[in-house]
Amino acid sequence: MSDTKMNLWDAKWDLDPAQCPCDIHFNEWIEANGIAGKTIYHFGTGTHHIVGIAQAQNGRRNAVFAITASKIEYETYIDLVSEDHHVAKSYVAYFGDIYLTDPRMLPVFDVVTLFHANEYIHDDTPSAEYSGLDDAKLLDLMTAKTKAGGYVLFYKGSFAFDKTGAMTAAWAKASGATRVADFKSLMVYRLPSS
Ligand SMILES: C[S@@+](CC[C@H](N)C(=O)[O-])C[C@H]1O[C@@H](n2cnc3c(N)ncnc32)[C@H](O)[C@@H]1O
Repeated sequence: MSDTKMNLWDAKWDLDPAQCPCDIHFNEWIEANGIAGKTIYHFGTGTHHIVGIAQAQNGRRNAVFAITASKIEYETYIDLVSEDHHVAKSYVAYFGDIYLTDPRMLPVFDVVTLFHANEYIHDDTPSAEYSGLDDAKLLDLMTAKTKAGGYVLFYKGSFAFDKTGAMTAAWAKASGATRVADFKSLMVYRLPSS
């Protein structure tokens, strides 16, 4: 019988601003750019859920849909929203492997974070039997799920940023995305407005 297991992330990530400030910087980018009333897809919740929590509490009416591939992180989400229906209303985290994304199940977002692009792809991920997606194809899929004029953000501090930088340069040419001002550790692209 073939292996049917999902490629989960058998770990957890607590907030570590020194090593990985991307989620903190993302919340600051939202503030600095006055992003309000928008929908956000976020790759990688951590156990801390600071993107979902901050966007639920900052009065900006943003809604966050986020993925984790960690069972422990997902349990922390359940604990979090069990205790706070205000957070539950605007922040939904789900458990899955982003490379198994079926575009039919996603709406179109205003802002997409792909901070962990190229970091956690497994050797078998792009196979037809598993997902058929590599990071470039995932980026194309998520671009199709980003509104015209919307933003796609990447993390310059990623250990895979050499790959992500090359990938986004090629993608920008093909998609017409424009690199706008970096924000701290984040590289920010904007899609054409139509
Ligand atoms: C190093 S942690 C960073 C978490 C958070 N963004 C931060 O900076 O504190 C990596 C995150 O990516 C998520 N992740 C890893 N592989 C994934 C996959 N294949 N699909 C979805 N999420 C994944 C993990 O669950 C975790 O939340």
